[in-house]
Amino acid sequence: MSVLLKTKEQFQQNIITTFETYAEAPVSQAVRRVVLVTGGTGGIGSAICKKMAQQGHIVATTYRNEEKAFAWAEEMKKQGFTFHLYKCDVASFEDSQKMVKAVVQDLGPLQILVNNAGITRDSTLRKMTIDQWRDVISSDLDSVFNVTRSAIDYMLETGFGRIINISSINGQKGQFGQSNYAAAKAGMHGFTKALAQEVAKKGITVNTVSPGYIETDMIGAVPENIRNNIVAQIPVGRFGKPEDVAHVVSFLISEESGFITGANIASNGGHFME
Ligand code: CAA
Repeated sequence: MSVLLKTKEQFQQNIITTFETYAEAPVSQAVRRVVLVTGGTGGIGSAICKKMAQQGHIVATTYRNEEKAFAWAEEMKKQGFTFHLYKCDVASFEDSQKMVKAVVQDLGPLQILVNNAGITRDSTLRKMTIDQWRDVISSDLDSVFNVTRSAIDYMLETGFGRIINISSINGQKGQFGQSNYAAAKAGMHGFTKALAQEVAKKGITVNTVSPGYIETDMIGAVPENIRNNIVAQIPVGRFGKPEDVAHVVSFLISEESGFITGANIASNGGHFME
């Protein structure tokens, strides 16, 4: 471990000397792992990708819209980040299988999966079309099966895994106009708890993070008067930031979080408590 020490004279002259010392207590080693974040080009996804990269991990992400993804990759590059992008519709099992296989071939054993991709198609049930229902269930819930099922054997082979499912406050409390989204996001909790039990002895943890209302394009699409009503209901008095969610993910993927599994951690400013 390297420490900085200053003598009184050095302090006065503002000189710092670096000494190599040997710590008696074990120093935790940061391990570089391959991380896959689905839908990383969105607001929360971007913050998660950046946080993972800042922690030294190799980060792959999926996208559906080429134009948006290339612009995003350019912007990330300007900010100093390099991510590995894979075109994939996570609502498709075949696509997800091919994508996960390619990630492993290109980057190495996949050990951390963040199921983040998701969409909204808000409508009251009376007006909801079957397509609005199916699009949300397949993008937000089927995708969790598709990608996790494709990745689980790789994690089992290495004996280490972290699966984080990004759900929503609205999967916990429901939301007017979101019977499709609330059903998909609530479904993630059941999936998390079942899979957590299946793989607990194999070094793999499975947890859900439930963001509240976070400043992203998804919230931007909610009519302004409704948004104002929502923020008035949040005890901390603001919408969340994507970084608030990324912080919880980084906590859950750490080596030290191996005893946390089947849990749901809310990051919602106190908007919903259970
Ligand atoms: N609770 C009770 N009643 C409500 C209501 C609510 N929250 N919102 C609207 N209503 C009432 C309206 O006052 C109206 O009543 P009247 O017919 O008596 O006038 C009736 O319901 C119809 O409402 P709308 O006119 O709003 O219906 P609409 O079809 O035009 O719009 C909607 C429906 C699209 C669902 C619209 O209300 C909406 O966009 N709501 C916001 C939904 C929302 O919060 N989505 C979250 C997106 S962010 C996200 O999902 C990320 C995350 O994880 C948190």
